[in-house]
Amino acid sequence: MKDQPHSSKTTPLFRHAWLAFARRLCSKIEEIIPGNMEPLSYVLGHDSDELNRLTRQHLMIKPFTNKLIHDSGLLDSRRVLEVGCGFGDVTLMLHDLLDQASSITAVDREQKAVVAASTRLKEMGVSNVNFLHAEPSCIEFEEQFDAVFGRYVLLFQPDAGAWLRRLARHVRPGGLMVFHEPDLQSLRSFPVVPSYEKCSHWVVQTFDGAGTPVVMVDKMHKAFIDAGLDEPQMRLQTFIGGVKTSESWINALCELANSMSDSIEKYGYATADDLEMPRLYERIIQEMKERQSVVIGRTEVGAWCRL
Ligand SMILES: C[S@@+](CC[C@H](N)C(=O)[O-])C[C@H]1O[C@@H](n2cnc3c(N)ncnc32)[C@H](O)[C@@H]1O
Repeated sequence: MKDQPHSSKTTPLFRHAWLAFARRLCSKIEEIIPGNMEPLSYVLGHDSDELNRLTRQHLMIKPFTNKLIHDSGLLDSRRVLEVGCGFGDVTLMLHDLLDQASSITAVDREQKAVVAASTRLKEMGVSNVNFLHAEPSCIEFEEQFDAVFGRYVLLFQPDAGAWLRRLARHVRPGGLMVFHEPDLQSLRSFPVVPSYEKCSHWVVQTFDGAGTPVVMVDKMHKAFIDAGLDEPQMRLQTFIGGVKTSESWINALCELANSMSDSIEKYGYATADDLEMPRLYERIIQEMKERQSVVIGRTEVGAWCRL
């Protein structure tokens, strides 16, 4: 498949035809996903609240993504394939950072995400991004890319090594594979903040129940090796802070729990009442104040290699 341009200069008719084609393609995707790559159940959903949460989360983790883009050498790329674009926050970042002559193809397997991201970027006047609704490991492009980039997407693949191996087909020799993933094993509080520990536990257990790994440090490394790629270069950064500096992380954790509330309740870890905002957030902050605690949050992990 050619990564057909979809810019703000295209006509609505053309865009409609292109989206219709992409949708038809996607209805066939299930048939060509190999058995070991059946999608995991995705506990976050794609409603507008979740897409807006992704944007708030982006503001928090953007500095790490930015550093990863610089350190990996991705800035020299002219043709970039972004996998799992969600609401387009990384897409927008790549658009801002890359040379104006570069082109970005942003893919997500969820149609709602692709429609929301393409509409959003179009309204912002971004014109060098082609959006595709597809499973990127199962499609073909006429031309290879200089780099594949993905954030918070590898963790959702049942066989991350097989997925990376298939994505690597899209990258030219000497090109880059770069991923930024979360690792939740670091969540801790000292002295213990009971509501923080509980909320962390709900999130971790629910991801676990859905088969989504919460420990990504080793899984990222293994995925590159299993894909037959070189051992990746890696970076890691963890959030740590007391009550005054933790507000945005605590809020992000509570929002994440709320995004997963249906699954958390289904598994019986917590009730709608336990999860109610802003009470959950206020409880954690209050307990932190009382105990003068420090919390450790999520770890951001980056990995990349050249082909
Ligand atoms: C947690 S969101 C992250 C979105 C965005 N990368 C960001 O960091 O804000 C994960 C996104 O990856 C998409 N996704 C998961 N597995 C995918 C796959 N195999 N191919 C394409 N998209 C995928 C989901 O539909 C979702 O939109």
